[in-house]
Amino acid sequence: MSDSVSRAWARVEREGERLRTLSLRVLFERDPERFASLSFGHEDLLVDLSREKIDRPALAALSALAEAAGLPERRDALFAGERINSTEDRAVLHMALRDGADARLVVDGIDVHREVEATRDRFLAFAEGVRSGSFAARDGGPFTDVVHIGIGGSHLGPEMAVRALRPDHDGPHVHFVANVDGADLADATARLDPTRTLVLVASKTFTTLETMTNARSARGWLAVAHGDHAGEHMAAISSNVEAAAAFGIEAERVFGFRDWVGGRYSLWSAIGLPVAIAVGAERFRDLLAGAAALDHHFRSAPLDRNLPVLMALVSVWRRNVMGWPSVALIPYDQRLERLPAYVQQLAMESNGKTITREGHPATRATAPVVWGEPGTNAQHSFFQLLHQGTDVVPVDFIVAAQARNGSGAGHHRLLVASCLAQAQALAFGRTPSEVRGEMAAAGAADVGLVAHRSFAGDRPSTTIAHGRLDPRSLGRLIALFEHRAFVEGVLWDVNSFDQWGVELGKSLADRLHPALAGGPLPSGTDSSTAGLLRHLRRLTDG
Ligand code: F6P
Repeated sequence: MSDSVSRAWARVEREGERLRTLSLRVLFERDPERFASLSFGHEDLLVDLSREKIDRPALAALSALAEAAGLPERRDALFAGERINSTEDRAVLHMALRDGADARLVVDGIDVHREVEATRDRFLAFAEGVRSGSFAARDGGPFTDVVHIGIGGSHLGPEMAVRALRPDHDGPHVHFVANVDGADLADATARLDPTRTLVLVASKTFTTLETMTNARSARGWLAVAHGDHAGEHMAAISSNVEAAAAFGIEAERVFGFRDWVGGRYSLWSAIGLPVAIAVGAERFRDLLAGAAALDHHFRSAPLDRNLPVLMALVSVWRRNVMGWPSVALIPYDQRLERLPAYVQQLAMESNGKTITREGHPATRATAPVVWGEPGTNAQHSFFQLLHQGTDVVPVDFIVAAQARNGSGAGHHRLLVASCLAQAQALAFGRTPSEVRGEMAAAGAADVGLVAHRSFAGDRPSTTIAHGRLDPRSLGRLIALFEHRAFVEGVLWDVNSFDQWGVELGKSLADRLHPALAGGPLPSGTDSSTAGLLRHLRRLTDG
């Protein structure tokens, strides 16, 4: 670590010492203008950091750390198409998938935008063909259902976006299958008609165990109706176009993307095909445009007004200065029910690392555990711990001003009020004397419940508020979390674009698989694995 980075960290830590003992109540009492000075906007998007245990001097110290860590240069290298994914020797260019027509970028002698546009035009034309029925089923009728098979980055983005954009659906029904547990495919296809169903196989590598197993089984399911022509009801999305062709899918129904699109950043590529089938090409382009607007903001806004940068600075503050190891993401939006799982992969697969970019052990904690559920449901399950548990868990709230449903504004006002109320309760709590006062006013006797009914408060949160959830605002929201992960990675000095940690389990599963079918145990198997495997085999064999 360079001297300037060490000095910047020392300054951040001094700010932490100063703020650690000051409660959010005190911070708000001392500065009634906290909201004005600690909330930041872009278009209708507002990120309120005033309920974080932070202030302007602390943010300035964090910004100085970002400068010392080379954030502006790293950001430029990202957008310039440099091979910043050093362990895989790849550029990171998912932003190029959503750039406007006037953008220009040449990488390895290839005009990236021209290629991106050609591929995009092709898969969007296919999506429109499926929607209109001009790309028809074998009997000449339209496809009514689409089953998308993929996992991780080839699944979470499309599934999340398809659910988020339900009011925009006017295409065939889209279903998702990810787990190698056969129940997933069986349940998804149970009520479907193979003569009316198109199966999409999405895998960047086209080798992933789960996806290939499900793809073969889906082909078998289609073959019951179509025999050797099952492949005519399938399409593939992959950067391994040869493997997709070898699987038996016609080249005209294979949609590629380059290796500079990371799996968890691939929604914008042909991996977004199910979204385009559900909502149409025009709305898919709106999704891209929203993300592009946030890209522009990230590239051009000064660090101290740059939303993904500020959110990343807060992440680092929470994790490294305050020492909080987990973060809850709570969208007050039922249609964002899969956003926590999506951001979980984005944040944890990108930055869950212990080795720095230079290959040394990290000296500071990196990514926290990210988890969550939509509000208000979450209030009635784990919020008890958030309010009164022994650990502090910072929360990221998301809320929209307007609803897009037919149930009337009454529901939505309650939803928004609940979001604001939870953030308020977490921050300010309720003191024992307030509890006593309220109980006395209600004429209730103090029977030893004051301690139980008091809330310590001082629990931080960020609130992300926007106009309404639609394709454009969804694109912007996702890009916000993507760039936050990038900036976090710069500050933690890790490569946010590889995922070597997922490899070991995959290769061990490959070795154990034959033993479950009655083969010998791999040599050197530990006694726990061997004992469990024998137990499960006995139960299977009866
Ligand atoms: O196992 C992790 C991972 O490699 C993810 O990074 C990726 O999104 C997922 O598997 C699926 O990979 P593929 O798209 O190649 O099937």
